[in-house]
Amino acid sequence: MIKLNIEKIFDFVSKDEVYSLDAKVRQCEDMLYNKSGKGSDYLGWINLPSEIDKNEIGKIEACAKKLASLSELIIVIGIGGSYLGARAVIDALSSNFNALLGRTKRGFPLVIYAGNSLGEDYHAELLEILDEKDYSVIVISKSGTTTEPAVAFRLLKDHLEKKYGKENSKRRIAAVTDRSKGALKKLADTEGYETFVIPDDVGGRYSVLTPVGLLPIAAAGFDVNKLIGGAREMEEFTASNKGLDNNPSNLYAAARNTLHQKGKAIEILVSFTPNLSYFIEWWKQLFGESEGKDNKGIFPAGVGFTTDLHSMGQWIQEGTRNIFETVINVESPNHTLSIETDTANLDELNYIAGKRLGEVNKMAEIGTMLAHVEGGVPNISVSIPRVDEQNLGQLIYFFEKACGVSGYLLGVNPFDQPGVEAYKKNMFALLGKPGFEKMTEDIRKKL
Ligand code: PA5
Repeated sequence: MIKLNIEKIFDFVSKDEVYSLDAKVRQCEDMLYNKSGKGSDYLGWINLPSEIDKNEIGKIEACAKKLASLSELIIVIGIGGSYLGARAVIDALSSNFNALLGRTKRGFPLVIYAGNSLGEDYHAELLEILDEKDYSVIVISKSGTTTEPAVAFRLLKDHLEKKYGKENSKRRIAAVTDRSKGALKKLADTEGYETFVIPDDVGGRYSVLTPVGLLPIAAAGFDVNKLIGGAREMEEFTASNKGLDNNPSNLYAAARNTLHQKGKAIEILVSFTPNLSYFIEWWKQLFGESEGKDNKGIFPAGVGFTTDLHSMGQWIQEGTRNIFETVINVESPNHTLSIETDTANLDELNYIAGKRLGEVNKMAEIGTMLAHVEGGVPNISVSIPRVDEQNLGQLIYFFEKACGVSGYLLGVNPFDQPGVEAYKKNMFALLGKPGFEKMTEDIRKKL
């Protein structure tokens, strides 16, 4: 089970201050379970791990197997919550050098991503690669109308149809979208693509344990049952009405909100394991979109150490003292690599000869924590035994649950994202989308 340690925040806030939030935290948790808080139409994620339909998993695995059998590459099209969860898990479990292997070590196709930007060069270069490779597409959009994935899917659908013919291309496409609404649903039904449903009551950034995350993760060859199993363990472990000491997600929510009340405006999620960089991106979206509204919210940032100790490390050690760190501590690497003795010792490293690289990394982690705490940066640590499906499942549910509670503690609706619409409206007006004529006129005057 993952372990949470908040001892290194007590130089900055008192135990009493954190534990005085216990009753309030439980109230917020009750609001999640009773569906009595803001955004209560989007609480389907709470029981997803325990209530997931076994037939649906079977269907996901069968589709993943079919796409994998046809493909050297699987292109996952999606953005935000329809992208980051899958990428977080796939990257965490994959070799860092997958791209150079051609296929994964277990012989599955490589998963690559599209529609998470409007980069012309990115998509043009992707299409060039796809001229040479056999591939399939998983297109994911809950609304079915998001511009970035819709544009990417139009490009790839056209490419697929030219390459394989209209009929043959259909079995290379799977769509993950709403049960009944949206352009993607209409398109998928019209074309007859295999389709998976995103439950109505699960929002994008909480959807990694639905087909949104599970289909790409299964297509990359990973065990979605173990992932869900880990999440289920955390669902049970953090079930309601336990005091802070017995409920790590509630304790984390209480600790970060106490620090926030004391002027810590920025939380930096840290990992010393390079494969977790997209897990940090997923976490940034989860907390950023959930809490950053009504002029409130802790700003979620992320760094990869020791790499960023040689860039952001200076700021963290000595910059404005409005930050705290949460470190994902991986207890054991999945590989073993020891540093050999060198008789000449010209690099002067014999003092660490015989040690594993992981041990050196661990000392860097402990040394950094001590330096940062002494430099005025409170430290929270979340430990997992190793990076695997089960522990990632636990970690995902831990952060989702903490985010729901934390958003309610802050007094916001953690399940909407009204601010995301502002740029979209301007972009549609600038592009002359039908229905935006008046705005087009107004916005052109501002330029
Ligand atoms: O968390 C969210 O709700 C958003 O980040 C969405 O996932 C993102 O905007 C993509 O939306 P959609 O799945 O409708 O294309």
